[in-house]
Amino acid sequence: MSVESYKLAAARRALQFVEPGMRLGLGTGSTASKFVELLAGEVRAGLQVLCVPTSEETQRLAEQHGIPLTTLCETPLLDLTIDGADEIDGELRLIKGGGGALLREKIVATASDRMIVIADSAKQVAKLGAFPLPVEVARFGMTATRNMIEMLAADAGCHGEITQRLLSDGAPFVTDGGNYIFDCAFGPMEDPEALDEALKFIPGVVENGLFLGIADAAIIGGPEGVAVIE
Ligand code: 5RP
Repeated sequence: MSVESYKLAAARRALQFVEPGMRLGLGTGSTASKFVELLAGEVRAGLQVLCVPTSEETQRLAEQHGIPLTTLCETPLLDLTIDGADEIDGELRLIKGGGGALLREKIVATASDRMIVIADSAKQVAKLGAFPLPVEVARFGMTATRNMIEMLAADAGCHGEITQRLLSDGAPFVTDGGNYIFDCAFGPMEDPEALDEALKFIPGVVENGLFLGIADAAIIGGPEGVAVIE
């Protein structure tokens, strides 16, 4: 069995949480894409749902598959969001944003009654932080913002290299919102809440990839099968 099959198994199990008439948030990334493709099969078979994608990429995929879409402006309250994660700890705290969609992902997840994370078991960690924390920043004054992140993160007990995310050709990665991303290699975090608070204090920080108190459940696919953690 491969990681891809674990992701697929988690995505398939998530379908069981979808009910006719639901307003759904659709996540971003390889696991969330599997869910979108499976959902498309159900829609073709007659399931009625209305969905808000969390990225341009997911929007394209959902459109290709004929999934009915709306926007969060037209439909500001959602029933359920299904999305992937880069790390999940034992308290269902997450690091997200490996795909750069953290801002829309957080807006959509917090507009939902429930958020369910789907992931392979390698995403489970004892402490968040081995995966560099994505921080989305405004382009204006980004060096000052970077310095402020370094300083306030240190006050929250986090130290490590902060690098701007680049594409393979060396050009800056630009988010769907037109911003840049710093990946912050802070290592295992003793106090994610303190770091989140510190980052929220910085004007140039648009959003950070810590999802704390947002996920309601996680569906984890692994060598032992699929586990639902609530
Ligand atoms: C995108 C995300 C993704 O959900 C996260 O990176 C996990 O991706 P994958 O399912 O491909 O491992 O947060 O911004």
